[in-house]
Amino acid sequence: MNVFVCSEELIFKSIAAQIAKALEKKPSSVIALPTGSTPLGLYKELVEKFEHGEIDFSKAIFMNLDEYAGLAQGHSQSYARFLRKNFLDKINASSKNIFLFDGKAKDMKKQAFEREALVKKRGIDIALLGIGENAHIAFNEPGSGFASRTRIVKLADATRAVNARFFKTKKGVPTQAITMGLATIMAAKKIILMAIGKKKSWAIKKMLEKATEKVPASILGKHGNAEIYCNEEAVFLLESALSIEYNGTTVFSEKNLPKKKRIIFISPHPDDSAIAAGATLSMLARHNNVLVFVMTSGHRAVKNNQSKEQKTAIRRRESIAEAKILKTKPVFLQLGFYDEGEKSFVKDKKKIFQALNKTRPDIVFLPQESDTHPTHRFARRVALEAIEKLKKKPEIWDYETPWGLFTHKGFNAIVEFCNKTLEKKDESIKKHVSQTKRTKFEVAAKNIARFRAITIGEQILSDFGRNPPKTLPFMELFKIEGKQKE
Ligand code: F6R
Repeated sequence: MNVFVCSEELIFKSIAAQIAKALEKKPSSVIALPTGSTPLGLYKELVEKFEHGEIDFSKAIFMNLDEYAGLAQGHSQSYARFLRKNFLDKINASSKNIFLFDGKAKDMKKQAFEREALVKKRGIDIALLGIGENAHIAFNEPGSGFASRTRIVKLADATRAVNARFFKTKKGVPTQAITMGLATIMAAKKIILMAIGKKKSWAIKKMLEKATEKVPASILGKHGNAEIYCNEEAVFLLESALSIEYNGTTVFSEKNLPKKKRIIFISPHPDDSAIAAGATLSMLARHNNVLVFVMTSGHRAVKNNQSKEQKTAIRRRESIAEAKILKTKPVFLQLGFYDEGEKSFVKDKKKIFQALNKTRPDIVFLPQESDTHPTHRFARRVALEAIEKLKKKPEIWDYETPWGLFTHKGFNAIVEFCNKTLEKKDESIKKHVSQTKRTKFEVAAKNIARFRAITIGEQILSDFGRNPPKTLPFMELFKIEGKQKE
């Protein structure tokens, strides 16, 4: 079971995009729909996509997962009414393709039987699910059998208490419901569960621990194609979760950055690591072993009358101070090319190869290919050749610097971060006093990170201006090589 974490808005955008794709491929896809607070944002997104002509529901087949027993379809709190009002009445669904339970049906058993027959005949392509605080899915409350089918159930007291917010009193909440069973839902080719908010974090944690009928949602662990989409609050009890991809761009925050990896950052000058990726490195260093390979002494950029050795020592001290803040470890390679140029290439390559080979990194960060700074370009070229010789090839993450910003299509990964992480980045850049007193790199880096968050939220993540999702206020960008944009 893959658990993805991202902002609420991106969850809905990315699920809506999946549904649009599924319907393009198979216009008569069968989709099971949940009710509740959680999917409202998804329905809004789907309606908007429909209004923009980006999705056609005319042949899609819809069924609802559950319904309160005793409420007529027109009742203000019936799930049928909810789905019509928020979704089905706003799109071009054909009424003959809509199958909603009737909570007031005379023969509920017959209705359950008919739903099973429908599922048997048409299958379910996508089952969309919310999750209860007690880990129920649809109205399969704790204790529901994993083999359960569509049936009448008694609602758990806890569920009635949670849902009382929609009724005048708790007493007014129906005591029974009709629900598709766990086995019925498991027949879906694809299952997408959404969870928003801290109240769902217990259920999310429990459902991932072990499959038990006490935790109905845990059955999804037995499904080969179930995806769980959570916002940060819903995964706060988990150690990690995956990042989502949106418009070909992977969105990372601390929760879903790589963990337990050996990571090397190729920093042409001593301060490139902090300027380009101080935020990402500080987050990575909490869960990984991060080495910063400082490629050159950087003595040329120290503007005083001291000797080359003294200048080198100054920059080393600054790198060590940076590493203390970011919790990385500097490795000083002091490559010859910085003073000798091209003729040092072979020697330098050997030196990098040996250092890399000792660490056997899983991930290597490099200045991106259109960086204009000659030292950055040389460092990239020589490091790439050394990497070529490694037995186990690491994943390459290209980074941008003020001397080589990515073009709009140049990157495919975003790391978003908050003010507190920006402070770390800022502090780490400011440790390079010999440089910041000459050029305000900390100001440039902060503004690039802010500019990235503003424009990327607006362009890439929001389909060029439509509903930009909330993101954290700062971003660093990367290109993970080998990952193609769609
Ligand atoms: C409703 C349903 C329920 C809800 C769950 C969460 O059709 O199947 O399982 O998904 O009770 O409800 P919300 O989203 O309101 O927290």
